[in-house]
Amino acid sequence: MGYKITKKENLSAIDFFMEVEAPHIAKSWKVGQFVVLIVDEKGERVPMSVYYADRENGRIGMFIRRHGVTTFKLWYEKKVGDEILSIAGPLGKPIEVKHYGNVVFAADAVCAQAEAYATLKAMKEAGNYTIAIHSFENKANTYPEEYLAKPVADEFYITTEDGSVGRKGHYLDILKELIEQDKVDIVFAGGKLGSLKKLAELTRPYGIPTIVTVRQIMVDGTGMCGSCRVLYDGEIKFACRDGPMMDAHKIDWDDAIKRNARFAEQENLREKDTLLN
Ligand SMILES: Cc1cc2nc3c(=O)[nH]c(=O)nc-3n(C[C@H](O)[C@H](O)[C@H](O)COP(=O)(O)OP(=O)(O)OC[C@H]3O[C@@H](n4cnc5c(N)ncnc54)[C@H](O)[C@@H]3O)c2cc1C
Ligand code: FES
Repeated sequence: MGYKITKKENLSAIDFFMEVEAPHIAKSWKVGQFVVLIVDEKGERVPMSVYYADRENGRIGMFIRRHGVTTFKLWYEKKVGDEILSIAGPLGKPIEVKHYGNVVFAADAVCAQAEAYATLKAMKEAGNYTIAIHSFENKANTYPEEYLAKPVADEFYITTEDGSVGRKGHYLDILKELIEQDKVDIVFAGGKLGSLKKLAELTRPYGIPTIVTVRQIMVDGTGMCGSCRVLYDGEIKFACRDGPMMDAHKIDWDDAIKRNARFAEQENLREKDTLLN
């Protein structure tokens, strides 16, 4: 038996929202954990973050970027009512949800936009003052506000690179201002690795704890294949098993960025094939 798609909606020019029936995951998922989808018998294993887990109705929500073979299939071929072959999870380590004070979540890519809502919802319920910063490239890529962390944020910001929606700039600019106002006790973030590296450099001198999603190419998602290896405090760790949310100040970012790009050439060729066929 597969996993039925119960909702699907466009979020922007390139991303969409999808909800699926997955009662066992909805019941046991905790903030920070992810899932791995297999669309059909020929499908690859695709890791995805969770936007919400609806325990009552046994469903999970995800934000997905139309990227390559699998995500194109999910958007163009699978309709509401169709099934996905398999969803494994929850995988990875949950983050610690407790009272920290002022909690920021900063996001600049699809997975992190989902994680922002999930994380700040839990942090608000734990009594924290929550600050959401969602960064997008431009208006065409920006999601409607109702899908972002606005309902669970005491302060809410959108930035775009061209200033077409919200503030012009990036989450790093807003975060710098908030830090200068002494308004940040802990930062959670996810998205582009280059931004996370800069974020680690920004918060390190202030000693602000910074927990980020370390995105690496994953195969099994359970710590067996070694694909998602990262250098962490001088030791080898696996993002799928020891993360994916980890201390940004302990990650060797140059190594993580290099490893994540190791199939870039093949993926560009594959993406071209997908678009042509
Ligand atoms: C923990 C984690 C959470 C993620 N959450 C989300 C999410 O919420 N939404 C979302 O759209 N994407 C998410 N991703 C990335 C997503 O898994 C890839 O975009 C997806 O595998 C692409 O598959 P594809 O066949 O469409 O594209 P492909 O053509 O196979 O790949 C396109 C790009 O996706 C990345 N990618 C491909 N395969 C993998 C893999 N096995 N593991 C990690 N990255 C891969 C590569 O950077 C590649 O450049 C997450 C990745 C990880 C590791
Ligand atoms: S995906 Fe295989 S070890 Fe993490």
